[in-house]
Amino acid sequence: MGLNFSIIVPAYNERDNIPLVVERLEKLLPSDNWEIVFVDDDSKDGSREALMSLARSNPRVRFIRRIGRRGLSSACLEGMASSSADVFAVMDCDLQHDETILPAMLQAFEEDPKLELAVGSRYTGQGGGTGDWSKSRVFVSRFATRLGSVIRKTELTDPMSGFFAIRREIFEETVRNMTGKGFKILLDIVLSAGRPLRVREFPYEFRTRQHGESKLDIVVAFEYLYLLADKIFGRFVPVRFVLYVLAGLSGLLLHLAVLGVLYKFAAVSFVASQTAATLAAMVSNFLVNNSVTFRQQRLKGGLLVPGLVAYMLICGIGAIVNVQAAEYLYASRIPWWFAGAAGALVGAVWNYAVSTQIVWTWLPTALRRKSRP
Ligand code: GDD
Ligand code: MN
Repeated sequence: MGLNFSIIVPAYNERDNIPLVVERLEKLLPSDNWEIVFVDDDSKDGSREALMSLARSNPRVRFIRRIGRRGLSSACLEGMASSSADVFAVMDCDLQHDETILPAMLQAFEEDPKLELAVGSRYTGQGGGTGDWSKSRVFVSRFATRLGSVIRKTELTDPMSGFFAIRREIFEETVRNMTGKGFKILLDIVLSAGRPLRVREFPYEFRTRQHGESKLDIVVAFEYLYLLADKIFGRFVPVRFVLYVLAGLSGLLLHLAVLGVLYKFAAVSFVASQTAATLAAMVSNFLVNNSVTFRQQRLKGGLLVPGLVAYMLICGIGAIVNVQAAEYLYASRIPWWFAGAAGALVGAVWNYAVSTQIVWTWLPTALRRKSRP
């Protein structure tokens, strides 16, 4: 019926696999109604040269090269956004996805005009599986799958699959609601659709990787939990704000501990104790927020010190307000711990609003721009 297909292949350090993917797809799909779009996040292994020479000699092959960015999901989304096809398929570059089921997956869209999603699944019960995965990786994958099923509308046996195809309309419908973070783009699509999608599953067996290595790590696991939390609570409060409040609470505990020890046990004056407690909480909040709350735009290396200085300056202003308010309350015979906590809270509101904008948004861009020749 004349559909056009785009096969989106996220690739990070996959030099040796790239030509193999093209070769295999060309054999399987002899018609000329498809293209292949590699999305390369500025790999350091010579992937770019491989892509360049393929794209020059083969009009089917396109690639996007993203500089200074990483992420499997966002890579796939940008590949789709760059394409004019009717149907987008997503497949890994490492040949772990069994490409021989791809023709049937694409064909299904021609046969069923109502089909919205085709998924390569390892768990349909009709064959397929996870190949040589270790017991613990199988366990984690199954657990993560079950966790996700709490909020899924579309029934899928393998929502963690990164091997699937969607109609363009579904992309248009969901892309603005998507988190675009982490590894699990299919889950992101299904969760963002807000309604059950019409789906067909295709069993396959997950293969062993031959070249290069897996990019799944603890950060990816964290991003998965973030994705779920965002989909569950994100409508009401941004997950980031919840994290900031939690980080703030840990800071508050530290604050009260320091205040209590100095004021109650070391007989330091209240104002001096409150000041020291505020400083300790500031440093700890900066570190916790930088590695958790603002993980995606985390300050590293040379940005860490200017970041801390800017954060301390902003919090310094917050702290003046904080100490003033606490001292005022303390002087009006309000209990020391309540005066301390109330002062810290007033400061925290200021800190969140201003540091989000300055420390984790404006500062990194400004300093990076300056250091460029
Ligand atoms: N552009 C880009 N940027 N590509 C990336 C990035 C990135 O930051 N990280 C990984 N990729 C590419 C890899 O080059 C590979 O082609 C594909 O994404 C999958 O990455 P792997 O590191 O090989 O992932 P895996 O084998 O652990 O996970 C696979 O299995 C999951 C099933 O649980 C992937 O297929 C997942 O999509 C799938 O969900
Ligand atoms: Mn892989």
